Formats: sequence, structure tokens, C-alpha cells
Amino acid sequence: MYQPALTSTSIGASDDFDKKDWASAYENVEQELSNVELKVSTGEIPKNLSGILYKNGPGKLERDGQWVHHPFDGDGMITAIRFDNGIVHLSNSFVKTKAWQEEEKAKKFIYRGVFGTQKAGGFFANAFDLRLKNIANTNVIKLGDELLALWEAASPYSLDPLTLETNGISNLNGVLKKDEPFSAHPRFDSGHHGVSRMVTFGVNAGPKSTIRLMEFALDGEKPGTLIKDRKDTFNGFAFLHDFVITPNWAIFLQNAIDFNPLPFITGQKGAAQCLSSKKNSKGKFLLIPRDSGKFAKEPPRIFEAPEGFVFHHLNAWEENSDVVVESIFYWDFPSIKPNEDFKEIDFNQIPEGILKRSRINLTSKKVSTKVLSKQCCEFGMVNPKCIGIEAKYAWMACTHKKIGNAPLQSIKKINLDSLEERIWNAGPKSFVSEPIMVPINSASEDDGWVLVLVWNGERLSSDLVILNANDLSEKAIIELPLAIPHGLHGNWVDN
Ligand SMILES: [Fe+2]
Repeated sequence: MYQPALTSTSIGASDDFDKKDWASAYENVEQELSNVELKVSTGEIPKNLSGILYKNGPGKLERDGQWVHHPFDGDGMITAIRFDNGIVHLSNSFVKTKAWQEEEKAKKFIYRGVFGTQKAGGFFANAFDLRLKNIANTNVIKLGDELLALWEAASPYSLDPLTLETNGISNLNGVLKKDEPFSAHPRFDSGHHGVSRMVTFGVNAGPKSTIRLMEFALDGEKPGTLIKDRKDTFNGFAFLHDFVITPNWAIFLQNAIDFNPLPFITGQKGAAQCLSSKKNSKGKFLLIPRDSGKFAKEPPRIFEAPEGFVFHHLNAWEENSDVVVESIFYWDFPSIKPNEDFKEIDFNQIPEGILKRSRINLTSKKVSTKVLSKQCCEFGMVNPKCIGIEAKYAWMACTHKKIGNAPLQSIKKINLDSLEERIWNAGPKSFVSEPIMVPINSASEDDGWVLVLVWNGERLSSDLVILNANDLSEKAIIELPLAIPHGLHGNWVDN
């Protein structure tokens, strides 16, 4: 079914997809499965894969005939795929948020979505309704005993890690105030300071924006305990979806973005649709010292960033007096305008994601930037043991064509030194999601597996594909008994 792994030089550059196949993934998830054993369609499950792949993403996209305006407004649905000695089980569940429960009962949307979903009833129904709907749909992580469904503008929802039962909003044992924002992009430090930590943040954005930087114990100390906590305030509106860490720094890119809340207040746009790129303006790198590191308690340092808009970073590291940051840049903030149908978007009109490396010299304050690949990509990761140090390899989702935007249909492994690439193609009717690299105990950085949920447009359902991380050859394909819409982020949790 799938195309064999190819080196990038042998890939065609055609627009090899039908938008209807891509859009066919956007349907409501109608079932919640509990511990269903899966059959392998091709290949075999690696015996050394032992743990759970958790994924989050929008699972409810339509109510009472009304579609969300943007898939990011869809309620979070968690998929858990558990591996144990070659046997695989699947469970999935909606995050039973307060809003999800209310809307299930009402059988219609009763909240506005941040990305432009409006309630029925026009102006009078939407104007001045400024409630935020915590849809818990962006990422899912394990912290201490809790499985947390994350959505950056509010506090996390806690679920049972095995049954996926929703326990309710978590304040992380008193760490978070009521409704406090908590990022959907924590970074896992595998031991820069002797023990593993989860480093994360929350941002209160406004004319001045405050970043709360937090470090939690993972193991070695009481798992889930807050160890470090600092707050720093910066000028300007900060739209910060992601960040990266090194042993001594937490690094943010404050995009050059304006926020005009008036169309949100008057019910014409979702809050995120009120963001726009600031003309002729560059963003800033904000380097906040980690209080575990050698610049603890010092003030942040600020540097001019290259032009462009960044959602996601790949990795960062320190090299002499440089801090090096790899990020996916768009030439403008991508959004879906109020009169557009997300299933009909013209990919050629949407900026593509380009992987770039910025080198920030802390002494001279100079920043230089280099393009690492011109092929549109998203959802990059390095071997988790390399987070915060220089990695040789990265894995990411990318388009099939070499230049310009299109749906993500391929997985790429890139050698970050030589920029040599290797690509696995899902095929013309299939679409990939974020790849999760699971390392195995080995001295080689690229030894392990890459797990990818693929939307199979032929079968109108999802497949789990397991690739060898080193050469992207197919190890196993599992046809799932579940149709999962194009999703967002997830994590692997070792047994
Ligand atoms: Fe993200």
C-alpha cells in the first residue's frame, strides 16, 4: 500500500494529492474504544517497543449541521496505543471538558471557538461573549500520576492514564491558579542537571506579557513536583506557542504580531483571528535563564529574530558563546479568514513551514540564520535524549513536493550536519501526522522507531505506521479500527 522509502533525490515534485482525500479525515469521531487488541496488517511489532503512544487532536468538528470554522476549534480526543511484547491495544476517549459535556447535552455549539467558530444566532449571540472554551485538544503528556490534555490558553485536564477517564481540570497540586494558562509544549530535559525534568511555561499576554517558567521533577525527585518557578515580563503582545531549552536557557521567539481584540469583542472573529503580522517588523528571541543553570536569577536577554512567524521549534543547544536554535518559519501568520471553508483551503495561498537554524552570539549580540531545507515541513523532533544538546538527526512531517505548500504526506529524516535527507512517502491518498521518535537503548542516536498515525484516504480510516528510525524502512503497518482526524501533538511514555 505504501511507497517504499526513497532518498530525497528520487522523489518527484508533482502535486500528487486530491484535496478531497485530505479533507476526508475531517469527520466527527463517533466511537470510544476501550483496550481493543489490534492486528498487524504488514510486518511485525518490534518486541523492544514497550510503552504507550498518546496522541491528542480535534475529534468533534460538527454539531447540529454546523462545522467548526477551523479544525483547531475541535474538542480534544485522546488516542492511546499500548505496546507490550509485540501485542498492541488501542483505547480512545474525548476529553470530557465542561464545554464538551454542555455541548453534548445541548447538541449544538454553545461556545465560540478561538479560531473563529461562532455560535448560531449571528451578531446578538456572539457579541460580548468573551468566554474561552478550554478544548484540551493540543497535546497530551504524563506528569507524575496524571495524564494531562493540554490547551495553551487554560489549565490542563487530567485523565486516568490507562482508562482515559476524565478526572477534571488539574491545578497540578496547587501550582496553577484558577484558569491559569499552561503551555501545550513542555520540553523534557533528560538530565542536564543530573535528573530528568519537565520544563514548561504559561503566558499572560497583553500590552506587556508575562512568562511563567516552571520546572517539574520527572523521576529521581517526587515526580510531578514543582522545582523551579520564575516570572519575567516583556514589552508587547507575546503569542508564544512553543519554546526550546538548553541546560542554561529557555528560549522563546516573540513573533512580531499585533492583537486587535475589537472584532472578537463584537462577535465577528475568533480571538486568534485578531492576530496579524506587524508590518516591517521583526520578532525577538527571548532568552530566559533556567534557574537550574549557571545564569540562575539573572534577567532575560533579548535579541532580534529573523523575519517570519514561528509556531514550532525543533531543538536548541549551546556552543561556546552561541545559543543555536532550530525553528520552522512561515513568511506570515497562517490563518483561515472568516468567509473561508477550511476544507476548501488553497494550499498555494498558505505560507509553508521552512526549517531554519539561528545562531545567537551572546557576546556580540549578532544573530545569523541559515535555511536547512526548503521543503515545507512541520512537527519536527530529535531523539528525546538530545533535547537541549546538539543533535545529529531530526525526524519531521513534510510535503511530498520539494517547494511550496501542500498537505503533509511524507516523513523525513534529516542529517543536521550534512543536510542529507531520507524520505518515506505515505502515498497519494494518505496523509501523515507528527512523527514520534522512540529511541531504543543504543549508542547510536538514530537507533529506534518512528511512530506515525497516517490518514488512509483509501480506507477512510487511520493506520499506525512503524518505521525504522535510521533508514525509514517500514517495520509494521496496523490498520486501526478508528478514523482519527488530522491531529496535533502526542508523546511516548515508556512502560
Ligand atoms: Fe504545537
